[in-house]
Amino acid sequence: MLRVEQLSHSFRNAQETVQVLYDINLVVEKGEMVALLGSSGSGKSTLLNLMAGFMKPSTGRVYIGEKDIVTLNENRLAEYRRRHIGFIFQSYELIPSLTVRENVELPLVFHTESPSKRKKKAMLLLEQVGLAEKADMFPSMLSGGQQQRVSIARSLITEPYVIFADEPTGNLDTRTEQEILAILQQLNLDLHTTFVIVTHETEVAEQMGRIITLKDGHLA
Ligand SMILES: Nc1ncnc2c1ncn2[C@@H]1O[C@H](COP(=O)(O)OP(=O)(O)OP(=O)(O)O)[C@@H](O)[C@H]1O
Ligand SMILES: [Mg+2]
Repeated sequence: MLRVEQLSHSFRNAQETVQVLYDINLVVEKGEMVALLGSSGSGKSTLLNLMAGFMKPSTGRVYIGEKDIVTLNENRLAEYRRRHIGFIFQSYELIPSLTVRENVELPLVFHTESPSKRKKKAMLLLEQVGLAEKADMFPSMLSGGQQQRVSIARSLITEPYVIFADEPTGNLDTRTEQEILAILQQLNLDLHTTFVIVTHETEVAEQMGRIITLKDGHLA
């Protein structure tokens, strides 16, 4: 489902080039729930953003499904990302002027599905994350944990090959964190959705099926 080969990455600025990832190789199978664990600055977000196609690595390959997304041009990559890759952000990134249901539907706006079909799919997912009754509210009326549940539903609506999450419980208290992790685990079981979840907390990582550890840009 996801395969990273010989990936390295450096950031360049006017003065210097700083290498942050070194020869990363990893495979994630369909239906796996993998934690990407490491301390601050170890390169977790950089690796996640490279795997999700938000930027291109200095060298290496990233296969999602059967496609090496590194070789796609900007337009094709954006299209591929929209169709096949899901993302959950630490700060939810919901659109404040859209209702909860409209936020969940948003990734499908570029697809060919009819509005009524889109709506039905969004409502099903909102039920799955326990928020059907909030469908017509706006994000600002929801708690942080509820907003993250909306963003989880949104990430699922295109039935992506893989969902990447960068510290999805980083803004939440411990109890809400456990609720969100339980929802992700349930979705992983029910829908066989493949997740790669960044965290710097060992206790969070231990609740995933497998832990991949990054240390100073190297996979342990
Ligand atoms: N756009 C950028 N330009 C230059 N350096 C960057 C850039 N983004 C990240 N870095 C550097 O790359 C290294 C890894 O950063 P990254 O954000 O991937 O770490 P992280 O493991 O996600 O940390 P945290 O747990 O704090 O989120 C850091 O040293 C950071 O300063
Ligand atoms: Mg980070």
